[in-house]
Amino acid sequence: MTNPTQHGICFFFTGLSGAGKTTLAEALAAAIYKQLNRPTTLLDGDVVRTHLSSNLGFSRADRDTNIRRIGFVAAEIVKHGGIVISAAIAPFDNARRDARALVEANGQFILVHVSTPLSVCEARDVKGLYAKARTGEVKTFTGVTDAYEPPTDAVIAIDTSQMTVEAAVTALLSLL
Ligand code: ADX
Repeated sequence: MTNPTQHGICFFFTGLSGAGKTTLAEALAAAIYKQLNRPTTLLDGDVVRTHLSSNLGFSRADRDTNIRRIGFVAAEIVKHGGIVISAAIAPFDNARRDARALVEANGQFILVHVSTPLSVCEARDVKGLYAKARTGEVKTFTGVTDAYEPPTDAVIAIDTSQMTVEAAVTALLSLL
């Protein structure tokens, strides 16, 4: 594949914890590097919360602040022609739209709903957090005791229980 574009691009993933956002983002970044010879910045929810949003919790206000920070950083990256993948839960429509507005001032924003159902995410429970959410040990957990607003403006929905990572990456690359 030849390089179809040199402009800034933000893939903005949204989906429940355990939906497969990180796995998909890492595979997409590797494929972009292989096929387009372009590096990608990955803004993973857990990593952002370690380095950029370590002061934030999981109230609605804090989640919105987190997503707006990610939107700001993503906008800076696309402004200079870079590629960025955001992989946070991003549960609230308003904050996603704020991030979109920031990015679209400078480049392309591709909203991807990683739509793996709650039942699958909970069965996976990679971090053991769903079990803790059910017992109340973890409060305000997305999909259990806190809201997730499914996007109405995503260009693609990927359910990782129905689609392989390879097929999902191919579908995402075809959007470029
Ligand atoms: S967001 O809501 O602000 O977009 P973000 O993606 O940064 O969330 O962080 C989610 C990650 O934090 C989850 O994958 C999980 O590992 C951890 N986490 C800890 N507590 C919660 C909670 N109450 N709700 C959701 N995720 C939580």
